[in-house]
Amino acid sequence: NEIAWDPEDAGKGSYEHYMKKEIHEQSRAIQDCLRGRVDPETNHILLEELAELDLPATVQLVACGTSYHAARYGARLLREHGIAAQTFLASEYRAETVPVDEETLVIGVTQSGETADTMRALREANGAGAVTLALTNTVGSSAARECDHVCYIRAGPEIGVAATKTFASQQVALALVTGVLAETAEPAFLQGLAELPAQIQTVLENSQAQALADAYVDSDAYFFIGREYTAPVALEGALKMKEITYKHAEGFAAGELKHGPLALVTERTPVFALLTEGSRLEKTLGNVKEVQARGAPVIAVTDAPQTVERYVDHVLEVPSTHPYLTPILANIQLQLASYWLANRLGRSIDKPRNLAKSVTVE
Ligand code: AGP
Repeated sequence: NEIAWDPEDAGKGSYEHYMKKEIHEQSRAIQDCLRGRVDPETNHILLEELAELDLPATVQLVACGTSYHAARYGARLLREHGIAAQTFLASEYRAETVPVDEETLVIGVTQSGETADTMRALREANGAGAVTLALTNTVGSSAARECDHVCYIRAGPEIGVAATKTFASQQVALALVTGVLAETAEPAFLQGLAELPAQIQTVLENSQAQALADAYVDSDAYFFIGREYTAPVALEGALKMKEITYKHAEGFAAGELKHGPLALVTERTPVFALLTEGSRLEKTLGNVKEVQARGAPVIAVTDAPQTVERYVDHVLEVPSTHPYLTPILANIQLQLASYWLANRLGRSIDKPRNLAKSVTVE
């Protein structure tokens, strides 16, 4: 079920940075993640690696950083399909307080499969009798060995410290796991999955994110707002921005703005607003008006440009798709925005200061 990695894949090729290369590999990463896992004849998701898995009563997802944001997305999807699911920062997880039993499935979402916090959480979950599943990119990793089941996300090697293509692959793999646990998959969603690689390519080829870098390179901070399925993407957009630009960035569920963060908003804090049809666009537009009243420029990431362009300063467009998949496309625009800002600032994009690709200490 894993895909062999070609050593050629680990070179930078003609790209200036691994991060840029890996952003551009997302179409292929998703094709690899999906290969052989969706039966177009029967509309069934086939994850052989979960064939022996009994349906759990509850699901807990444990992860750190970007993988935690993917886990938040996965938990929302599971709940939408009637499965009780909770997300935990691995560093905060204690199996004895949750609680856990043999009907609990604990999913460790970890690109490297080596993150110490996630490993400790998985060991505790195993010790408490849970069934464990590693959702990882790394064949034979500690997480793959520790867990009862493994689902490989098949993103291929990711060298840049900032996780990019693996986030997209984690989201798709979690959508597949949801389909298996829910024992159902909407035909419209499967159709969306089949179209996703081409739509990713469309975003990559048409993104206007580079042009934003000049306009906003001197800003004091960058805020990101999203709602429902795009709320985890707002968190991820901010993490990527701070990681590679070293500038203040924060992501919020849009509804939380007025409960505190609004005090930070000025004309020097551009706001990236995820305004997508499947995630209550009209409500988030209300939040856009709140930040505009404080002078903040607004960059919309949207699948409805005609509806939103008169309200915002810039539009980064994504193609229309199933609402579960829009976050994957929207996130690519945010990856590119961070990338171009960091590039303009001359940062060490592939190896940001103070950070390591794999965090093996708690
Ligand atoms: C993401 O850009 C980060 N480098 C970091 O947050 C990372 O996602 C986190 O350390 C978790 O790593 P893992 O997926 O390998 O467990």
